[in-house]
Amino acid sequence: MSKRRKMKIFLLLLLFLCEAQSRATSRPNFVVLIADDLGIGDPGCYGNKTLRTPNIDGLAKGGVKLTQHLAASPLCTPSRAALMTGRYSIRSGMASRSRVGVFLFSASSGGLPSSEITFAKLLKTQGYATALIGKWHLGIHCHNKTDFCHHPLNHGFDYFHGLPVTNLRDCKPGHGTVFMSGIRLLVFIPLQVIAIALLTLAVLKWLGLCHVPPAVFFCLIFLAALILASLLCFLHYFRPLNCFLVRNYNITQQPLSYDNLTQRLTEDASQFIRRNAKKPFLLVMSYLHVHTALFASKDFAGKSQHGIYGDAVEEMDWSVGQIMNVLEELSLANDTLVYFTSDQGAHVEEVTSRGEVHGGSNGIYKGGKANNWEGGIRVPGLLRWPGVLQAGLEIHEPTTNMDIFPTVVKLAGSPLPEDRIIDGRDLMPLLLGKRQRSEHEFLFHYCNFYLNAVRWHPPNSTSIWKAFFFTPKFAPEGANGCFPTHVCLCYGHFVTHHHPPLLFDLSKDPRERNPVSPTTEPRFQEILETMQRAVDRHAQTVQRVPNQLSLGNILWKPWLQMCCSSFFSLSCQCDQETQDGPVSH
Ligand SMILES: *[C@@H]1O[C@H](CO)[C@@H](O)[C@H](O)[C@H]1NC(C)=O
Ligand SMILES: *[C@@H]1O[C@H](CO)[C@@H](O)[C@H](O)[C@H]1NC(C)=O
Ligand SMILES: *[C@@H]1O[C@H](CO)[C@@H](O)[C@H](O)[C@H]1NC(C)=O
Ligand SMILES: *[C@@H]1O[C@H](CO)[C@@H](O)[C@H](O)[C@H]1NC(C)=O
Ligand SMILES: *[C@@H]1O[C@H](CO)[C@@H](O)[C@H](O)[C@H]1NC(C)=O
Ligand SMILES: *[C@@H]1O[C@H](CO)[C@@H](O)[C@H](O)[C@H]1NC(C)=O
Repeated sequence: MSKRRKMKIFLLLLLFLCEAQSRATSRPNFVVLIADDLGIGDPGCYGNKTLRTPNIDGLAKGGVKLTQHLAASPLCTPSRAALMTGRYSIRSGMASRSRVGVFLFSASSGGLPSSEITFAKLLKTQGYATALIGKWHLGIHCHNKTDFCHHPLNHGFDYFHGLPVTNLRDCKPGHGTVFMSGIRLLVFIPLQVIAIALLTLAVLKWLGLCHVPPAVFFCLIFLAALILASLLCFLHYFRPLNCFLVRNYNITQQPLSYDNLTQRLTEDASQFIRRNAKKPFLLVMSYLHVHTALFASKDFAGKSQHGIYGDAVEEMDWSVGQIMNVLEELSLANDTLVYFTSDQGAHVEEVTSRGEVHGGSNGIYKGGKANNWEGGIRVPGLLRWPGVLQAGLEIHEPTTNMDIFPTVVKLAGSPLPEDRIIDGRDLMPLLLGKRQRSEHEFLFHYCNFYLNAVRWHPPNSTSIWKAFFFTPKFAPEGANGCFPTHVCLCYGHFVTHHHPPLLFDLSKDPRERNPVSPTTEPRFQEILETMQRAVDRHAQTVQRVPNQLSLGNILWKPWLQMCCSSFFSLSCQCDQETQDGPVSH
């Protein structure tokens, strides 16, 4: 053999080895599956025996199950902001100081600031194809209808198909309204006052005690009619103006239809994977399930043992299975890290006026959505990556949904941003068994803007201390939630402050039933002092930023309203989903 020929073979061999090597360690694809309001007591792999979730359970069987996985916040908008950016939502201003902690109108001006860096943005710079399918809920516009400053496409996603705001009861006719307490305050009370005033005046006039000009009666009746008319308008227009689907910047269905909705979005997700099978991709599948208004297609409706809530969970599980099937079919499963979680705990107060339970189960845990008892923040956390992560492993250490950011970013080969604090920690050392302890010695549990509780996992012990600075006032007495307000609120007379803080050891008392006291825990004072020092250190890192959920930022601004027909025609109706949508052939 000539020297040259030998050289050539050697080089070819080298090339082959390099290729094989790079394939083995090449950057994985990512599929991030986010359920809405799913409780940790719902999936079978977390102990539910009657709800059927074989596909979600399959992720646990073939991957790692986290048993102390914590949402950074117990509410949609802040929890999702934290997941996307790896930072407590207070750092991006996505933390409300007033009553409403989430965006309710598509035409409001708050949202995830463009200055924030999502993992999608970093993956895109690494050559990943990126898509968000389903719910966003992190804002759309800032100043005008063309800026799309908060839109997913401005946050690193190449493709968006789904719901810019959130699924609500008001999106489905006949399913009631989430604005009940607002309507009581703004409509029923004023109407009652007017009715009493009218009656009093009528009686006085009848008794001849005073002269009331007819104009006064007329004005009061007119005012009452005006209030009623505004209410009817609000209820009538809420749905088309806020419940619509978009593809990238264009509305595809307004108002949205629930017919085969999960199927449509799932099919679109599958097509995205197929389109990008040959290059690295990130798919964030952000389910509308299982937030109210609950829905399920014909194949799932009435099939579960838990009413329409169970049907919705089982349909979502089916969708997870469809996506896993596509990965199998394209032989991508071993090259894909799949993560499944819920944005917060189940919504305990979701019970209809007829007593039908529309919220899920938080298992043994207290409380739920919108409060920082374990039921509100301890969520399913599953990670599957065959050949890399050990199948069937369970990890009981504290982890958070903010950890996904550094985990995914590092695996994609991107450096982490250095100009800002990232609160999440890379999960890989823990998942691979290279570390036994979570890097989160302390975690801070926010209720919107307010620091509600702190968690401490001391390096030299098995204890998980959790100290509450305040707790929500559950109502009615003895309930497991705040039923009169539909969600617990974080401030004022809605909470009880604790001095000293209410302290639990979750390793012994995961249900948070028995707070420890100086008599049951001799180191009581010392523990609280250590936690307080951690809080002080943390507080120093929190900077003042514009409040994205201020009253001005959450109000409806007509000039930001998206409408697929002329806004002045007052209809905002169209449907391209079924014409050129992914399900049509
Ligand atoms: C919308 O706002 C952006 C940013 O403030 C600005 O650059 C753009 O010119 C505005 N467009 C219109 C049509 O006013
Ligand atoms: C969105 O609508 C505009 C104008 O109607 C059209 O030019 C554009 O192609 C549409 N984009 C998509 C992604 O459908
Ligand atoms: C939903 O999908 C099923 C199965 O593909 C189909 O038979 C049905 O007609 C669809 N329903 C609607 C309302 O599109
Ligand atoms: C299973 O989930 C259903 C629906 O959320 C719930 O009613 C039931 O209590 C759960 N079972 C367990 C054992 O948690
Ligand atoms: C995927 O990984 C698993 C576990 O290591 C292995 O058994 C299987 O053969 C791999 N599949 C492919 C297609 O490489
Ligand atoms: C554990 O460590 C902390 C400080 O890191 C210390 O205050 C405490 O006394 C230690 N506890 C035990 C049981 O060693």
